[in-house]
Amino acid sequence: MDKEIEKQVQQLKEKYDAIGQDLDTHLDGLLHSKPMTYWDYIQTDALLNLQVQRTVLPDEMVFIMYHQINELIFKMILWEIEQLAYNEKLSTNVFTNKLERISRYFDMLATSFTIMQEGMEVEQYLKFRDTLTPASGFQSAQYRLIEFCSTELINLIDYRFRETIDRNTPFEHAFEHLYWQAAGKDYKTGKKLYFLEEFEEKYKDQFVRTMKEYNRINLWTKFKTLPKVDQENVKLRNAMRHYDHTVNVRWVMSHYGAAQKYIGGGDIEATGGSEWQKYMHPRYQRRIFFPDLWSQEELDNWGIDNLTGHKLLT
Ligand code: HEM
Repeated sequence: MDKEIEKQVQQLKEKYDAIGQDLDTHLDGLLHSKPMTYWDYIQTDALLNLQVQRTVLPDEMVFIMYHQINELIFKMILWEIEQLAYNEKLSTNVFTNKLERISRYFDMLATSFTIMQEGMEVEQYLKFRDTLTPASGFQSAQYRLIEFCSTELINLIDYRFRETIDRNTPFEHAFEHLYWQAAGKDYKTGKKLYFLEEFEEKYKDQFVRTMKEYNRINLWTKFKTLPKVDQENVKLRNAMRHYDHTVNVRWVMSHYGAAQKYIGGGDIEATGGSEWQKYMHPRYQRRIFFPDLWSQEELDNWGIDNLTGHKLLT
């Protein structure tokens, strides 16, 4: 037998011995297994059967598919963040490369938003959105998970309550003061709206688990635990700033632009029922994952000029 094959058989034997399995049986299994095809591997049949319209309006298909693409990319982002978070021997190079990779995904989401903004007829949108009420993109759990994994909880707390919350605050209490709670409440009575109640019913346990899991390994804490000299690394700082700006200004502005086009300027309510215009603009919302990496001037101008803060450090 070819030496290389002999070595492989030996390795396989060791692999199966280690888990108490019989190599013969596995080799027989290999003999009968079906050759791989693209469609089985990528699961194209399953994937392409997930687009189910709720109305007869053709542009609803664009809406569904673009959201699904977003969710897939969110999943890729979370996948990469997890690799970074659990890496115990991070070099600035690995940190920077991974972060740039994550940013490329988010860049894609920010630049492709024109698919939404220019992609549908307003008349069609205004019809199919009625059928989708009260569902909302607000209920994207992965978007929230990305935030929990990216920064310390305090940076996701509604500014009005920041002084009352610190590292000793129970997670459940902090959860009730996350910035996005405001969009899901009747601003006069403070009562949670239906779409927020449903969202929490489904995901709150997972959110609190993730808040705890990433408490000490989120991207911001990870960065701050690097040696001081690494924290000064310009390439890494630029990568951090780019990510922060892309998620919290560029994407938010693209999203805001789409909302303006379809439901802006009038009395039209968001499908979720929020006071969205007061809530969505980065200038008011001021979500910032890595606050110490911005100058005072950049912080003061956050979200005012779309490009502010995007400049590269040298
Ligand atoms: C025509 C397209 C879109 C419009 C008009 C729109 C509109 C809105 C509005 C009005 C809100 C505020 C909450 C509410 O519903 O009351 C919202 C929230 C949200 N939407 Fe969209 N959206 C669009 C596309 C998308 C897409 C493609 C995604 C990607 C998953 C998305 C993700 C989100 C998220 C994550 C939030 C919560 C944002 C936050 O808390 O700041 N939206 N959207």
